[in-house]
Amino acid sequence: MKIFTNIKELQTDILQCKKESKSIGYVPTMGYLHEGHAYLMDQARKENDIVVVSIFVNPLQFGPNEDFESYPRDFERDQLVAQNHHVDYIFYPSVDEMYPNQPSVSVSVVDRTDVLCGKSRPGHFDGVATVLIKLFNIVMPDKAYFGMKDAQQVAVVDGVINDFNFPIELVPVETVREEDGLAKSSRNVNLLPEERVQAPAIYQGLKLAKEAIVNGETDPNKIVNIVESYINDQTKGTIDYIEIYSYPELREMDKLTGKIIIAVAVKFNNVRLIDNLIIQLKNE
Ligand code: PAJ
Repeated sequence: MKIFTNIKELQTDILQCKKESKSIGYVPTMGYLHEGHAYLMDQARKENDIVVVSIFVNPLQFGPNEDFESYPRDFERDQLVAQNHHVDYIFYPSVDEMYPNQPSVSVSVVDRTDVLCGKSRPGHFDGVATVLIKLFNIVMPDKAYFGMKDAQQVAVVDGVINDFNFPIELVPVETVREEDGLAKSSRNVNLLPEERVQAPAIYQGLKLAKEAIVNGETDPNKIVNIVESYINDQTKGTIDYIEIYSYPELREMDKLTGKIIIAVAVKFNNVRLIDNLIIQLKNE
């Protein structure tokens, strides 16, 4: 496994791989790797000659009062995880390497961002899109792997790839969970012990919503109420949002039909957790 910190050196190596007709699979991450990330790596390993993982905590996608400083980091451990999952290259740039000077162009995501995390984290997806456009140009992958835990991010990346004509196939990968249902996240380590006990209620609430929908409930407000009272009952967290939209368009619906997303964000003391379920309803 090779580790690159320099953009030019990685690009040179990747161009050589391309000359040799090797396919490139890419997993962008912010590190503190867990089984969710590892699952993306495994998918990439199965489908590509070369697997590249980037580890970069991107300051642009954190708001001024968010957890950029306290975001967990452990590069030593991350290397072991990547090695165990047969990754070929790690790209581990510094902030200066990625953003050496004031940008002359800024990217603004205008669709699919006025809801969910886009609404409660202004500028977040502009930062995600900016870094991914750079990373896609650096890594030049054939396929890029993204987790459905961040379903809105997948919808935004789909827009970036189409709008900017990247010759990249976006591969969405299902959410990996702890045994108690909590979605794996680098941020879970920042939960206090009692919060860790309560946090699985997010997924349980989502499952209650699914049950109600499967049993015929089509009113989004009623579904939201079910999840809201369950999470309020079971946790001391503050609900940031519980929302239901069409997926991937992220449009509001009066009556549930087609492919939908129910997404939740809950704030605990030091961590904000997100989760979602995507449900395919039978069209009438
Ligand atoms: P990060 O939160 O490190 O996540 C990297 C990738 O792992 C994302 O595609 C995310 O959806 C996926 N992932 C996280 N937890 C997962 C889980 N439990 N199951 C399956 N996949 C999971 O998302 C980012 O970093 C950044 O925004 C990034 C795309 C790297 C841009 O900076």
